[in-house]
Amino acid sequence: RQQEKEQIIKGHEFAAKLYHYFMGNTAEGKHALDYLRSRGFTDSLIDTFQIGYAPARWDFLASYLEKREFPMPLMEKGALVAAKSSGGYVDKFRDRIMFPIRDAKGQVIAFAGRTMGNEQPKYLNSPETALFRKSKVLYNFHAARAEIKRTSRIVLFEGYADVIKAWSAGVHNAVGGMGTALTEDHALLMRRNAEQVVLCYDGDDAGQSAAFKNLGMLLKAGLDVKIAMLPNRLDPDDYMEKYGPDRFRTEIVEGAVPPEKFKLLHLRRNFNLQDNEAKLRYVRTAIREVIATIESPTGREHYLKELASEFSAISSFESMKQEMHEIREQQQKKQRYGDNNDISWNNVRN
Ligand code: UTP
Ligand code: MN
Ligand code: MN
Ligand code: MN
Ligand code: MN
Repeated sequence: RQQEKEQIIKGHEFAAKLYHYFMGNTAEGKHALDYLRSRGFTDSLIDTFQIGYAPARWDFLASYLEKREFPMPLMEKGALVAAKSSGGYVDKFRDRIMFPIRDAKGQVIAFAGRTMGNEQPKYLNSPETALFRKSKVLYNFHAARAEIKRTSRIVLFEGYADVIKAWSAGVHNAVGGMGTALTEDHALLMRRNAEQVVLCYDGDDAGQSAAFKNLGMLLKAGLDVKIAMLPNRLDPDDYMEKYGPDRFRTEIVEGAVPPEKFKLLHLRRNFNLQDNEAKLRYVRTAIREVIATIESPTGREHYLKELASEFSAISSFESMKQEMHEIREQQQKKQRYGDNNDISWNNVRN
C-alpha cells in the first residue's frame, strides 16, 4: 500500500518535470510558454511553481512512463493515464498548461490543467484518488507553511493564478482553495496553523458570494477572519497585473476589512442607492441583518455611528439607535418564546 503510494507520487513528480521541461525547451511547447509570459508569469515564477505544458498528443506522458518502466496500472490508479479498452494507455491531460498540486510534504499528488482556448472545463483537475483528497488539500500550503507560522496568518485565494502572482508580490502565506467549496476540513487545517485568515476572493458576484458563505464556517472554526475587497470585475491576479504588486499588498491585503464591515458592503450590492427610498431600505436592512446581530455593544455603536454619518440625510443617529433597540427587543422576545416552548414540552412529558 505504502509502496503503491510512493510509486504514484514518483509518477507525478516525473510528469511534473516532463511537462515543465517540454514547455521550456521544445518548439511544440513554445506557445504555452508565450501564453504564460503574456499573462505576466515570469520565467523564475514558472520554475518555482514548476508550471508546464501537456502537448496535444494522445500518449505523450503514457509512452514516457512506459519507457521508464513505471507500473502502468498504478499510474492509472493515480489518474495520470487512462486504460484503453483496446489495451495500452492514454494521457488524462492534453493540450493544457499544467499546474502541479502538492501535498503538505511538498510531493506532487495531482495536477490542474488549464486550457488556453475556450474548452470546458477551464481547469481540468485530477479526480479524487487515494493520494488526492480535495477536501483536505490547499494549493501551495507546503511552500507557504513557514510564512504562515511566522505571521500566524493565511491569505486564502480562489485560484491558482492568484496564489502564484501573490507569491511573486511577496505574499508568501498565500494558499488556494482551488475554487471548490471550502470544507470544514480545510477550515480546521487552517486553524491548526494560524490565528487569522484573510479571504481574498474574486471581486465578481460568484467570488463575493463564496466569501460570504465561507466566512461563517471560518469564524465557527475559531479563526479571526478579514475580507479583502476587490473592485467588481477583477480577481487578485487581474488586480496585480493592472495596479502592480505593491498596491495589491498595501491596499487589498492590508486593507482587508472585518466581517461586519464586509457584510455591510456585501448587502449594498442588492440596493441601488440612488434615491432616498432605496437608501432608507438599505439603512433598515443593515440595522436589522448586520448591526443588531453584533454581540458587543461597542461594536454595535461603532457601526451604527458609521451608518448614521453616511446616511445623515435620511435619518439621525438617535432614530437609528431607537430602531435597533426595537429590533433587538423583538429578536430577544422570539428567543425567549422559543425557550418557553421547549420548557412547556418538557413539562408535558414529565
Ligand atoms: P476562476 O474562474 O476565477 O479562474 O476560478 P481563475 O483562477 O481566475 O483562472 P484564470 O486566471 O482565468 O486562469 C477560480 C478557481 O476555481 C477552480 C480553479 O482552482 C480556479 O483557479 N476552477 C475553476 C476549477 O477547478 N475548474 C474550472 O473549470 C474553473
Ligand atoms: Mn525551468
Ligand atoms: Mn472566480
Ligand atoms: Mn478568478
Ligand atoms: Mn484569474
